[in-house]
Amino acid sequence: MKVYPQADSYERQPVNTSFNSVTMINEEAVFSEPLPIPQIDTVNSNPFALIAGGSKGIGYSVAEALAKRKYNLILIARHKDSLISAKEKLESLYKVHVEIIQYDLSRKEAATEIARWCMDNNIPLKILCNVAGFGGSKDYLNGLSLDSLRYMINLNVESCMALSLTLLPLLEKNAPSYILNVSSMAGLAPIPAKNMYSASKSSVIFFSYSLRYQLKEKNISVSVLCPGPVYTKPEIVAETKKKLGFLGKLMAMKPERVGEVAVKKTLKGKLVIIPGFSRVVSWVIRFLPRRWVVAVYGKLGG
Ligand SMILES: NC(=O)c1ccc[n+]([C@@H]2O[C@H](COP(=O)([O-])OP(=O)(O)OC[C@H]3O[C@@H](n4cnc5c(N)ncnc54)[C@H](OP(=O)(O)O)[C@@H]3O)[C@@H](O)[C@H]2O)c1
Repeated sequence: MKVYPQADSYERQPVNTSFNSVTMINEEAVFSEPLPIPQIDTVNSNPFALIAGGSKGIGYSVAEALAKRKYNLILIARHKDSLISAKEKLESLYKVHVEIIQYDLSRKEAATEIARWCMDNNIPLKILCNVAGFGGSKDYLNGLSLDSLRYMINLNVESCMALSLTLLPLLEKNAPSYILNVSSMAGLAPIPAKNMYSASKSSVIFFSYSLRYQLKEKNISVSVLCPGPVYTKPEIVAETKKKLGFLGKLMAMKPERVGEVAVKKTLKGKLVIIPGFSRVVSWVIRFLPRRWVVAVYGKLGG
């Protein structure tokens, strides 16, 4: 059995609160029940990692890789059913404590309310993972409505920047600590058919580079994950096979592998994390003039 380096444990104050939230799923409002008061053994509890978008896909795999290393977890997502199933699975497999928060991270007040909840409950936060993102086949000048465009920016860009800011005091208090932002290979070059998406993901990359520099003295390491295709949904499998063919097969990865590589390299303090064969392709993309790359993507249909 593989042994993972484990989180250091230390004493902290009891957690005792409830959390009220109104969740927006795109434009539809969903009123959620207040969360139950967390029941946690706070004496000698291990530190926490917060995964924004941790109930499914890459976020769940990041959560699992952290649970293997004995981090307690806070998972945030919009849908309660998948949050509960993630919590049950992770708690029973890895014997860690998992808090769940049902919340739409694209909401303006999300970062402030989540940070307040963490501070009120004295959460010993050591790792922040900004994973939730919105992409898909519709994009700028290609069927994306103005509301969805704003939703994409709020979720992909603002949420990541805002949570990093509001949770900074806790990360600083628990340093050495880590921020893992999830971008994409699409953030390495402009992609006409994914114009907004690639622009939003490139800002996550630039943000991470600068933030890492800014937080170095505070002993907070910032990493950015830029995966190629990750098979989290059937649409991604179909699109990768159709548009990228054999190259897509080489680049595509399972979320479990991506989560494990991301966590391992984040804890080692690596800045840009590109798992698998996509790393080789990314060298080519970064080496070629942007005008050429955008034309190649344009010919491939994005
Ligand atoms: N899959 C890929 O091929 C790929 C490649 C490169 C980069 N990425 C990036 O990796 C990240 C994760 O992608 P994925 O494929 O793993 O996605 P996914 O399977 O759809 O999972 C996304 C997670 O984020 C949560 N989420 C989504 N919107 C949210 C919102 N508004 N508020 C709160 N939580 C939200 C989801 O739960 P709810 O739906 O319940 O909210 C879920 O837990 C994204 O940033 C994506 O851009 C993905």
